[in-house]
Amino acid sequence: MLFKQQALLRQKLFVLGSLVIGSVLYLVARVGTLDRLQPICPIESRFHPSEPEQIPLRTLQFKRGLLHELRKGNASKEQIRLHNLVQQLPRAIIIGVRKGGTRALLEMLNLHPAVVKASQEIHFFDNDKNYARGIDWYRGKMPLSLPHQITIEKSPAYFITEEVPERIFKMNSSIKLLIIVREPTTRAVSDYTQVLEGKERKNKTYHKFENLAIDANTCEVNTKYKAVRTSIYTKHLERWLKYFPVEQFHIVDGDRLITDPLPELQLVERFLNLPSRISQYNLYFNATRGFYCLRFNIIFNKCLAGSKGRIHPEVDPSVVTKLQKFFHPFNQKFYQVTGRTFNWQ
Ligand code: A3P
Repeated sequence: MLFKQQALLRQKLFVLGSLVIGSVLYLVARVGTLDRLQPICPIESRFHPSEPEQIPLRTLQFKRGLLHELRKGNASKEQIRLHNLVQQLPRAIIIGVRKGGTRALLEMLNLHPAVVKASQEIHFFDNDKNYARGIDWYRGKMPLSLPHQITIEKSPAYFITEEVPERIFKMNSSIKLLIIVREPTTRAVSDYTQVLEGKERKNKTYHKFENLAIDANTCEVNTKYKAVRTSIYTKHLERWLKYFPVEQFHIVDGDRLITDPLPELQLVERFLNLPSRISQYNLYFNATRGFYCLRFNIIFNKCLAGSKGRIHPEVDPSVVTKLQKFFHPFNQKFYQVTGRTFNWQ
């Protein structure tokens, strides 16, 4: 009897305890949601731009909270109306270069409260089928944003695709264009590594990098190899410069974005006429990953996927030297045209 009573008491305590914990969790979630859904910053005290081009900001938490709700599909029509949420065409595009660090750059810029990223590569301007779908299709692929925010998308294939500069020009001739570059030989090896991994995943064999990058007949650099061609940055840039003045481009140092991202991001903020909001707090080095990761707030942080930061295969040093010599004159031209110099070999 006593044993039965004790069991009953224990059961009651358990139910009571669960109710208390449940209520506390509900309250925490509710307060968090309310906090996230309401503009934290009252209208009067919101940032007022000193320069006409600057974009007013709400707080980082506000943007995170609201967009978090939107991502979860929780945005009601009411919220969309209340916050004037819109799908805007990008005001800046990361046009390349593939394997330059385009994903890291997009994700890091998205830390800025006035920036909203299109998560997927949209491939509107480089894919004829998509392009034929029209500009409204493109706009429809853009995330919801507050009217003062700028939308950024990245599709690295834009940089090397013939038709793209003209198509982007037709959409917006004053758009800002971001190009992130790495030392050309390293970028080519990174490009190769990505393809190699794809082949290995399908249990396929693939050539060695050396055999692709060097023409066996001439022993010269094989300029037909796409990974080599993509690294001749100046050749591609020339096509873009037929449509856009050089001031409309900003070159990001992809090698520095790996080792010390903040100064690179601050340069981009300035280029986009945004007040400097990304800080060292938002970026922390993760020793396990070997890369900087992103800290949005005390709770939410993330590193890039494992497909970013692959281990490269060893490449014959003589091939590396040959490639570096090959790229040298193109690099010089690139420095000259863009006004940004790198310490590439
Ligand atoms: P590797 O895989 O060769 O190391 P993209 O996004 O354009 O495909 O570029 C991928 C490259 O971004 C990676 O190339 C990696 O070096 C670089 N990168 C820069 N910052 C990074 C970060 N914080 N985390 C992971 N990769 C980063």
